[in-house]
Order: sequence, then structure tokens, then C-alpha cells
Amino acid sequence: MNIETVNEAASFIENKLNEKPSIGLILGSGLGVLADEIENPVTISYKDVPHFPESTVSGHKGQLVIGTLEGKQVIAMQGRFHYYEGYTMKEVTFPVRVMKALGIDDLYVTNAAGGINKDFEPGQLMIIKDHINQMGDNPLIGVNDEEIGVRFPDMSEAYDRNLIKMAQEKADELGLKVEQGVYVGNTGPVYETAAEIRMLRTLGGDAVGMSTVPEVIAANHAGLRVLGISCISNMAAGILDQPLTHDEVIETTSRVREDFLNFVKSVVKSA
Ligand code: 6GU
Repeated sequence: MNIETVNEAASFIENKLNEKPSIGLILGSGLGVLADEIENPVTISYKDVPHFPESTVSGHKGQLVIGTLEGKQVIAMQGRFHYYEGYTMKEVTFPVRVMKALGIDDLYVTNAAGGINKDFEPGQLMIIKDHINQMGDNPLIGVNDEEIGVRFPDMSEAYDRNLIKMAQEKADELGLKVEQGVYVGNTGPVYETAAEIRMLRTLGGDAVGMSTVPEVIAANHAGLRVLGISCISNMAAGILDQPLTHDEVIETTSRVREDFLNFVKSVVKSA
């Protein structure tokens, strides 16, 4: 990753647009439907963008959708790049750099996550108030590009306090049960053992997933305001007496599709 490849990708996208996006949306497993609501969309497949990696996981489309949502100019990633797919941290976060180069100020990151907090239930949404990086890697390792950000970025407010407050207000207005919690980022692709989940609960985690942390680190480095939303698609290992499957993740996210869409749209509208 260097700034030239980022700028080449950004120019390629910019040339297809009439207006600049101000909000970036990363849509997680089963949550890509939000991009279908974007009006006057310009759709660009990841494989057509110079220097972009290509998406491989089922439930992910692998395209950018740029247009108007609730009166705001947005750029949505329908599908993201996961570390467990074998991409490097630099590849996983490349699109964040590109969206920053395109001029976004805010990044809304969504995911499907397992509930660690026993008060949670599958199908509810969680505003991410903080995260724990358990991936054992970091996208900023290596030479620092001072044009993008500082060598030692502050992460004490990785998720923007004002966006959290605004999102909670919107959730309450809509009458949705939305909790706030700490997201733990693991590499996957395995789900955790029951012992690992007990450990993560002791460490202060409320939900666990296989994404988001790298993108949020890159976003903070680049000075973007971040909002994180998890869809609790299932309870993590050892809480319920049943095995975890990706099918359950997709089933739950499609069941709460309407809540998720209404929630994110009302947040975008108020942004
Ligand atoms: Cl339980 N763990 C992880 N790592 N990712 C998940 C999950 C659990 N449920 C959905 N995604």
C-alpha cells in the first residue's frame, strides 16, 4: 500500500461520479441490502478498481455502490475484505484509504457478531462503543505515511462519541432495542471455544466478530469519524447449548433486515 495506489483507485472511482461522497458505509455479512436503497447508484465491482483486492466469501457481493441515501452522498462497500481470507491487513484496509481519498468524513462500519454479553439476544443491534484488537496484527505496522496520519495514532475515542449519542437517540426514537458494547475482533475463521468466550467476557467484551477492527484502526489513523454497528446474529460459544453456523448468521441478519435498514438510514439522515 502506498499513497499512489490509493490515489489511482480513488481517481478511477471519482471519474464515474458527479458528486463526492461524505459518508462511507462498510456493510457486513447479510447487511449488504442497505446498498440496494441507495438512489441513482453508480455501481463498481471491486475487480474493476485498480489495486483493489477481490472478495471471496458467500453473502458478500464485492462491489461499491455510490449515490444518495436519505439525502446524503454515500459510498457503500457491499462486502468487505477479511483477514481470514488471507488478505494482509494493508489489503483489508485499502478501501478505507480510498474512501478517505474520495473525501468522506465519516465511516459507518457494520458487522454480524456473536453475543458474549449474556443479556444480549440474537437479532438485536449493538452500537460499538469501543473495541479490543485480538487479531495479533495491525494495519499500521510498517513505514508510516505521514500524508495519511501520525506514527502513533490516538485510539482513546476510536468510535466517535457524538455519533454514538446520535445513533442511540435515533434507535430510541424508532423504539429499537439497541445496546452499546465492546466489540472484540478475532481473526477467525473458526468461531471461538466456550473457554475463549469466557475469557473475552472477563476481558470486557460484549460481542465478537472477525472484522471491523482493522478498518477502524485505519480510519482513526486517517482522521475519520467512526460509527460501528453490530448485528448480534447469534450467541457466542458456551452460552446456548447449540453449535454455531454461518447459516444462523445469515438467517438472523435477514430476519432483522428492516430494523437494521431503518436504523442506519435514520442515522445517515441526521448526520
Ligand atoms: Cl460467535 N465469533 C466470531 N468470531 N465471529 C462471529 C460470531 C462469533 N458470530 C458471528 N460472527
